Amino acid sequence: MILNQLEELSAKASDELGKVDNLQELEAWRIRYLGRKSSLTDILRSLANLPLEERRAVGASANLIKQKLEACHEEKKRELEAFIFIPGSADGLDVTLPGQPVDLGHLHLTTQILEEVCEILGGMGFQVAEGPDVEWDYYNFEALNMPVNHPARDMFATLWIDYERDSGTKPMLLRTHTSPVQIRVMENTQPPIRIIAPGRVYRYEATDATHEWMFNQVEGLAVDKNITMADLKGTLLEFARCLFGKDRKCRFRCDYFPFVEPGVDVAIDCFACSGAGCRLCGNSGWIEILGAGMVHPEVLRRVNIDPDTYSGFAFGIGVERIPLLRYGIDDIRLFYANDIRFLSQF
Ligand code: FA5
Repeated sequence: MILNQLEELSAKASDELGKVDNLQELEAWRIRYLGRKSSLTDILRSLANLPLEERRAVGASANLIKQKLEACHEEKKRELEAFIFIPGSADGLDVTLPGQPVDLGHLHLTTQILEEVCEILGGMGFQVAEGPDVEWDYYNFEALNMPVNHPARDMFATLWIDYERDSGTKPMLLRTHTSPVQIRVMENTQPPIRIIAPGRVYRYEATDATHEWMFNQVEGLAVDKNITMADLKGTLLEFARCLFGKDRKCRFRCDYFPFVEPGVDVAIDCFACSGAGCRLCGNSGWIEILGAGMVHPEVLRRVNIDPDTYSGFAFGIGVERIPLLRYGIDDIRLFYANDIRFLSQF
């Protein structure tokens, strides 16, 4: 009689355990079948009142069932815990709760602007060229009409690499602008040339709201027969309109760079003060975004392009200055401070 009861109990417990699918249900099952108030415990407790023969048979069977149920319980527990590992939590997983959102990364603001600049200029027929960040003095200065001791070298505060002036080794530096790519391209290509060269440049100078020690430029170079200043102006005006819209004011002003003649700097009216003057624009009302000019005949001669047959224009755009103007960012140093609160806005 009791043996039958035990068999039924065992079958029922196994059947119910098969349906358990979380740790809470498993604990309830354990209390029901193995707990202090369970039928199995009652039977084991009442063994003493049974006649000896029956006591042996029932005792053996009850203990066997108890061991089997305990083993099944352990196995089920391991199975459930393997699926439901929640650090710091003993509870089960509620699969109906909303999932934790995964933060998706995106391109850095500078990369986005670089891509946009290249797309606009690419649409005008310029192809992308590349040059190294670590550059020879020759490409960064000398071939650009700035021989050793030329005072214009001071315009580009330079980070030198292992350079001792009298050591006789070839001086190496972190390029101070993307203009060396002009030389690298012209050395290997005959006109017509239309290239843009995006990349990082480095300057040994103090930082402020519009100056970083590492920033990006996009160089532009067009060399062909009959290229004039009007081509340069037309290209840059169209470029500025595409980036900032037709209403933004654009200023061309004479400037000096040894590798162009004549040279200009191009500025856009300051978004922060609309031209009245403020901290960001250094009270001038304008933010300079690029330097440009007609390629100097001396530079063409150095790369064996005849300046009597060919002429060209070149420009170098400061990439970070574009979003400064467009989004009203008031400090360029935010770009590389790696503050995700800033970067995730763009
Ligand atoms: C040059 O670097 C010249 N190579 C540009 C050029 C190319 C002139 C071809 C003629 C022909 P400049 O030092 O002015 O020029 O820099 C060009 C642009 O880079 C500036 O207009 C400005 O937008 C940006 N720029 C310059 N210095 C910094 C700086 N420290 N931080 C951020 N942007 C800068």
